[in-house]
Amino acid sequence: MLSITDTRTGKQYEIKVEEGVIRAADLRAIKTDQADQGLLAFDPGLTSTAVCHSTITFIDGEAGILRYRGYPIEQIAEKSTYEAVAYLLLFGELPDVAQLATWKASLGAEMTVPEQLPRFMDAFPQTANPMSMLMSAAAALSAIYPDARTVATQEERLVHARRLIAQMPILAAYAFRRTRGQSYVNPDPSATFGANMLRMFFKPDNSPNFGASMLRRLGGKNDEEYVPNPVLAHALDILFMLHEDHEQNCSTSTVRGVASSGADPYAAIAAGVGALSGPLHGGANEAVLRMLREIGTIDHIPAFIERVKAGDGRLMGFGHRVYKTYDPRAKIVKHTADAVFKVTGMNPLLDIAVELERIALTDEYFLKRRLYPNVDFYSGLIYEAMGLPVEMFPVMFAIGRTPGWVAHWLEFEQDKEKKLMRPLQLYTGYDRRDYPESR
Ligand code: CMC
Repeated sequence: MLSITDTRTGKQYEIKVEEGVIRAADLRAIKTDQADQGLLAFDPGLTSTAVCHSTITFIDGEAGILRYRGYPIEQIAEKSTYEAVAYLLLFGELPDVAQLATWKASLGAEMTVPEQLPRFMDAFPQTANPMSMLMSAAAALSAIYPDARTVATQEERLVHARRLIAQMPILAAYAFRRTRGQSYVNPDPSATFGANMLRMFFKPDNSPNFGASMLRRLGGKNDEEYVPNPVLAHALDILFMLHEDHEQNCSTSTVRGVASSGADPYAAIAAGVGALSGPLHGGANEAVLRMLREIGTIDHIPAFIERVKAGDGRLMGFGHRVYKTYDPRAKIVKHTADAVFKVTGMNPLLDIAVELERIALTDEYFLKRRLYPNVDFYSGLIYEAMGLPVEMFPVMFAIGRTPGWVAHWLEFEQDKEKKLMRPLQLYTGYDRRDYPESR
C-alpha cells in the first residue's frame, strides 16, 4: 500500500501497489471537493506510464538487457533465424524442427504478390520515398483483404498475421525497385529470409542503373542468374532478428493504439510504419548516414560535437528512451558490420562513426545524459555497404519490426484488460466565449 496525505485537504488515502505500480485510476479518488474530477498524472511522451501487460519482450535499460520471451538477444542473434524468432514472438515458444518447417511453409503460402501491387507501385513517381510507398502499400492491403475488418477468432487473426509477415518484404522490395525504375522480382519462399530479400532487391534486370561492380559486390553472376551472397544474407537475417521487437516503442504503441479502436491489422501496421519513419525512431538509421556524410572527415568531428553540445542538432544514433547504457543490439550490429565489410569492402564512413563513438563515450555531456550508441548507429553503414540508398534504411527496419507489431496486435486482441486508447489532456485554451455576429 502507498499512503498519501493530500496536504490540500489533510485527507489520507491508501493506494494499492501491485507489481511495483499503482493504478492511475486510483488517483482519481483524490479530490479537493465533489466537483474536482480527481487527481491525474501528467506524462507527455508516456515516459512513466505502463499501458499494458505483455509477455513478449523484456528490457532492462539500466543493465542493457533485451530478451524475447526470455531468450537473451545475444543468443537469439547467434543461434536463431528470422522466421524462428517470428514464431517465438507470436506463439511464445521456439518452434521444434517440424513446427518450423510448417511455419515456414505457411509463410511461403502467403508470399503471393497481390495482383494489384505492381500497378499500385507504378502509380507512384519514381522519386517517391520508399517508406511512404511502404506505408501506403500496407494500408492498401486493408482494401485488398477486406475480410480483415471482421476478424473474430485467433485462427482468423493468424491468417492476417502470417500474411503481413510474408508480404511486408515484398512490398518493401517493390518500393525499392520502383525507385530504380526496375522490374519487380517475385519472392522465392524456398530461400532463407535474408537471401530472398537480397534476391528481391538486387536481382538485376536490364536496367542501366545496375552496374557490373554492384553485381560483383552482391554476388550476382549475370543477368539471368543471381546468387545472393550468403554472408550478406546472414547479416540481413541477424539485423532483422535484432529489430523484430522492442516492446512498447513508438510504432508498436501506435499499432496497439490503432488496433484498440477495432481497426483492421493492415490499418494498424500502416500507422506503425508511419510512426517508425520519423528520425527519432526508425528513421534514425537514415539520419545517422546523412550526419556522417555531412561531417565528411574526421577533422570536422570536434566542431560537430561542439554544435551538438550547444543544442544545435543531435548526435543521431545515440541515446534511447529506455537504454541508459550501450544498446545490446548496437554491439551485435557493430560485430555484424565487420563480417559484411569483409565482403563489400570497408565503408569509409566507419572511421568517422568509430571516432564519434569514442568521443561521445568519454565526453562529459554524453556521459552525464547517459547517451550511448543505439541500434541505428551502425546499421546504416551495413545497408549502405550492401548497396541500399539511405531512404531504404527505415524500410529495412519496418520489415524487421513487422513480427513484433503483429505479435503485439495478437496479444492486444486477447488481452482481457484491453481498452480503447484514449489519453486525456490538460486544456489550456480559451474559456467559453460567444461567437461574434460579424463572422
Ligand atoms: N544527441 C545529443 N543530445 C541528446 C541526444 C542525442 N542523440 N539524445 C538526447 N539528448 C539530450 C537532450 O538534448 C536532453 O538534454 P538536456 O537534458 O540538456 O535538455 C537529454 O539528452 C535527454 O533527452 P530527451 O530528448 O529528453 O530524451 P528522450 O528519452 O525523450 O529521447 C531519443 C530519446 C531516442 C528520442 C533521443 O535520445 C534522440 O533524439 N536520439 C537521436 C535519435 C535516435 O538515434 N533515435 C533512435 C532511437 S533507437 C531505435 C528506435 O527505437 O527507433
